[in-house]
Order: sequence, then structure tokens, then C-alpha cells
Amino acid sequence: MLQTISETNKNFSNEISQVSDLKQLENLRIKYLSRKGIIATLFEDLKTVPKEDKPAVGKSLNELRNSVQTQFDTLKEKLEALSGNNKQAVDFTLPGRGKSVGSKHILIQTLDEIKTIFRGLGFSIAEGPELESDYNNFSALNFAPDHPARDMQDTFFINKDYLLRTHTSPVQIRVMQNQQPPVRAIMPGKVYRNEAISARSYCLFHQVEGLCVDKGVTFAELKGTLVSFARQFYGSGFKYRFRPSFFPFTEPSAEMDITCFLCKGKGCRMCKQTGWLEILGCGMVDPNVFKNVGYDSEKYTGYAFGMGIERIAILKYDIPDIRLYFENDLRFLKQF
Ligand code: PHE
Repeated sequence: MLQTISETNKNFSNEISQVSDLKQLENLRIKYLSRKGIIATLFEDLKTVPKEDKPAVGKSLNELRNSVQTQFDTLKEKLEALSGNNKQAVDFTLPGRGKSVGSKHILIQTLDEIKTIFRGLGFSIAEGPELESDYNNFSALNFAPDHPARDMQDTFFINKDYLLRTHTSPVQIRVMQNQQPPVRAIMPGKVYRNEAISARSYCLFHQVEGLCVDKGVTFAELKGTLVSFARQFYGSGFKYRFRPSFFPFTEPSAEMDITCFLCKGKGCRMCKQTGWLEILGCGMVDPNVFKNVGYDSEKYTGYAFGMGIERIAILKYDIPDIRLYFENDLRFLKQF
């Protein structure tokens, strides 16, 4: 009997190795595994085996059945996958799963563009810390001790002498303290203001500062540089104007406006009916600032400017709410 079992095993292995489709496999199943198949018949024969041999023969018969069943199942799965009958098989006609690729944040894209334009105009790039001294942020920039910008309501003070910078202008001070003229640099970075958060203002935003100091620098150069920047950034189909303004660290000071994108100057909600949008603050460096960094104001003149990157991009892309920049909502970010 044991001999027969071992031969059956060999025969089955031999036969299954020649099976190449599901139909042949089914025939093999009927031959070996069906109710009247070879293995069932062997189990029938077990009854005739002497009692003392039954455990050994029974065990080897069980092993045969399991081995045959396993080989059968394995091959069946393989053949089904190949013939596409099985639901788990790969369906090559399905569309692929797209990989989503990340991109630069719109503020970084805008900053990159600004940097490229000013590099082309001969400016280098400088940076300074966000945690700044009260001296660099205010005093050195000619803010009077009682200037309202020092008020606790606008500034995040760390202690009496240190604060989160409220603008990038203190980097002007750092650059001039470390370098003699000529200076031609832009200084991008984060700034902080303790303002009520709304669609128009946020406690954190980004600025780009600009500074140019040399012998004989004029207001005409300031205007020429900024108009050249604006033409490259916004395109040439716009008008620009400089309006008198005030900053403690520049004299004279101005703000630069561009024709409203939305109404082309006719007046609308975006430009508050004026036809103009303010894009930056600027002016000639105040001699008091030169004095504070040890520059000779008889020998040198210079101009400075500062713009908010959020504001610049809000105007360019008509973004309705400044908070969108910081929420990381993909529906917003993917538009750029
Ligand atoms: N620091 C000013 C602000 O934050 C902008 C400015 C920079 C104005 C340089 C003039 C010159 O509003």
C-alpha cells in the first residue's frame, strides 16, 4: 500500500508538470481529487489494511492528499492570473495612478522673481535675523522715542531691548555697519506685527528691502530702478506714480503706485475708487541714519525701498484674503 501511495505521488508530480492550461488541470483534478478519483479510492482501500499498519498508511495517505491539493491550488492560481480569469489579476487597461509633484509656494515663487530682477539690476542679497534689537529696528532708523510704531500694539516685544522685527529695514543698518559704500543690496525676510488678523492683515508677512548707497546717488535713480523693476515684474502696460509720504528713516519719502489691474484706472473696489494701487514705500536715506552707522552723509547719498511680498502677489493674482497664504490648502496652492 505504501508503495502505491509513493507511486501515486510520483505520477501526480509528473502529470502536473505537463499541465499548461486550466482545462488540463481540471481533468487532473477529476482524476486524482474527485469523489471517485485515485486518492478517494486509496482511502477506500485503507479499510483492507491490517489494523497495526493503519496509522502509518493513513498518515502517508493524508500527506499525499495534502501535497496533491497544494500543488493543484498553486498551479490553478497561476493559470487563472495568466488567463485573466481571476479578479485579483492586474488589469493593464486601467488608467495609471498619477504621482502628484510638489511645487514652490506662491510667495517663494514671487520672491524668486523679485530676486532675479534685482540681481539683473546689480543688487546682491543680504539677510538678517527675525529676532532683532529695539535699537536696529527703531532707534538706528531715526524713530523718535515716542513714535507710535513702538507701541506694544504693533510690536511683539520679547523684552525691553529685543523684539520680532516689524520690517526688514533693520537689515539696512546691519549691512551698513558691516560694509563701507558702495552698497547695492536687497534684503528679503519675514516680519511680524501684532495686528488683528483679517483678510487684509496677518501677524506675519514677508518684505523685500532695498538699499543703494554711493557718491552722488539721486532720487532720479531711485525712480528709474523701481520703474524698471515694476515693468519687468508687472509688464509694461501700466502707469506708475510716486506720491509724497513719510518714513522716519528716509527724507524725502514716497510711495509708489501702479494703475489698478482690475479697472485699468477707472476706479473699483480693489483700488477703493482711486484707480491706483500702492506697491511700495521708498525714499532717500535720512542723514541721521548715516550718522548712526558711521557713514559720512556729506560724502554719500543713498536710496531705500521696501515692499510686502504678500501684497505684491495679492495685487498681481487678485488673491482675496491674505490668510490663504498660510493655510496650506492645496486647492489654493495648486493654482500657481
Ligand atoms: N520699512 C517700511 C515699512 O515697513 C518700508 C520702507 C522701506 C520705506 C525702505 C522706505 C524705505 O513700511
